[in-house]
Amino acid sequence: MPKLGVNIDHIATLRQLRKSTFPDILCAAKVCEAAGADSLVVHLREDRRHIQDKDVVILRKKVSIRLNLEMSIAPSIVNIACSVKPDQATLVPEKRKELTTEGGLDVVRWSVAVARVIRRLEENKIETSLFIEPDKKQIRAAADCGARIIELHTGRYANSQTATARRGNFKKINEAVQYAKKFNMLVNAGHGLDYENVKPIASLEGLYELNIGYAIICHSIFYGLKASVLEMKKLIS
Ligand code: PXP
Repeated sequence: MPKLGVNIDHIATLRQLRKSTFPDILCAAKVCEAAGADSLVVHLREDRRHIQDKDVVILRKKVSIRLNLEMSIAPSIVNIACSVKPDQATLVPEKRKELTTEGGLDVVRWSVAVARVIRRLEENKIETSLFIEPDKKQIRAAADCGARIIELHTGRYANSQTATARRGNFKKINEAVQYAKKFNMLVNAGHGLDYENVKPIASLEGLYELNIGYAIICHSIFYGLKASVLEMKKLIS
């Protein structure tokens, strides 16, 4: 059964709407932990639209499950990661105007810079994952850069408009998981997964962890965070 990483960025989105002190990010993290989340995911964006530097510091100190810091390869963010030392860093592409991370990191194009960042993070004992499209060229490039973990972008699957498109996108993810296994990489997946579409992905052979945020936080408005994490865990199993 794949593990569940819960992305709590949108607890901070709500807090930042009023630049308030609540909802409290640590409280959210503790609830996820108590409900059986295997890791916590936060994205320290360059524009600091949700997660702030101090959130990452507090989570690092006070939470015992794994902390996975999503981040761009910008030097200022890499410096913060090396100082806070999350258990894992997930390198993602970042555009100022996007609503969320729209696509995977183009490792083919940025291979030299990505390899350099992986080396620096791993020297600081931070396991590093690359968020990429389910595409053989990207997987090969990730392996060549020294990545031992990848996260496959499930956004195209999640946003498929027809059953045929969904089947096609599902097949690509399945093939990508099997291909990545040839490089002995740990394979995670995430983006756009929700209570309706998670089951087929969770049943794929060889996936280590699913990272899910938006759907869980939205569901928690009506059912509470603990129940929402528990229900997602149940669907995954
Ligand atoms: N994985 C990565 C690398 C992401 O960038 C995101 C979005 O922040 C997620 C998983 C979670 O996506 P969602 O919020 O759509 O569940």
